[in-house]
Amino acid sequence: MLARRENRLNDLDGSQWLYWTDTLYITNFPPDATHPLRQRHGAMKPPELMAEIIRFFTKKGELVLDPFAGVGGTLIGADLTEREALGFELNRCWVQIFEEIKSKYVIVNNKIVPRENAMTEEVRLLRSRMEEGDCLELIKGIGDETVDAVITDPPYGCQHYLSGFKKETNFNMFNPAQEKDFGNAASFEMYFCLMADLGREVWRVLKPGKYFILLIGDRYRNGEYIPLGFRVAETMREVGFRLKGVKIWCNQATRRPLRPYAVYQCFVPNISHQNILILRKE
Ligand SMILES: C[S@@+](CC[C@H](N)C(=O)[O-])C[C@H]1O[C@@H](n2cnc3c(N)ncnc32)[C@H](O)[C@@H]1O
Repeated sequence: MLARRENRLNDLDGSQWLYWTDTLYITNFPPDATHPLRQRHGAMKPPELMAEIIRFFTKKGELVLDPFAGVGGTLIGADLTEREALGFELNRCWVQIFEEIKSKYVIVNNKIVPRENAMTEEVRLLRSRMEEGDCLELIKGIGDETVDAVITDPPYGCQHYLSGFKKETNFNMFNPAQEKDFGNAASFEMYFCLMADLGREVWRVLKPGKYFILLIGDRYRNGEYIPLGFRVAETMREVGFRLKGVKIWCNQATRRPLRPYAVYQCFVPNISHQNILILRKE
């Protein structure tokens, strides 16, 4: 048992804190009740994962911002943990799915359930909000040093319009503002410039000493491994953030099967992890 000291960051006890500092982070979250709606996105994150991250980097009642909110994995995670949350999302289709989730689901005993199945009085509504638009514009409406944590999952790199990735998931089909989509940046250099622009705004809105958490997958393109997590971390260090660590995350429950890339020819990785970058304003 660890000695009790004032906890400046979260509501965890010492053992829970220690457990969460492990850099290997293998989860096994099965799809939740909202999964059938959220899965239309294709790159969504389990709300339970986001809830665990939020529980570590904030206290109850604090404000979380997600500039790339998608269908609301972070926002639902914030509701599960009784934090305030605001998200920005460029694509109207994803905002509408999130609004549908808000109208059809509630929280009972820290689980999200369909509203019609909620037979108890202990029902909590989803209170987090999502605004439609470009995060680089919308974030300007947030006051200096008013946010307790920025926790987000940006597009992983550029030129998504060229790859099958978005076609498979209908990503662009509904997107009237494709040119503002970070995932459609014309090159990795452009992508890092956009991320740096966002990083400067995140620095402005975050309270001192608070955390900027980015979930980001590495990529493999034209026969070369692109350590995107590392490069985004470097971009944010140039903005002023201190890199405090990385957790290597993989959700076993929803992991896709290994694909036989270049077997007998050369090494091609099946990238089954994502980096959780932990940056701090200090
Ligand atoms: C990896 S997804 C986030 C998924 C999210 N974590 C979830 O659980 O649904 C990245 C999202 O960023 C959005 N996006 C890209 N550029 C944006 C911008 N400039 N402003 C706001 N959202 C943007 C995309 O439409 C996409 O939904």
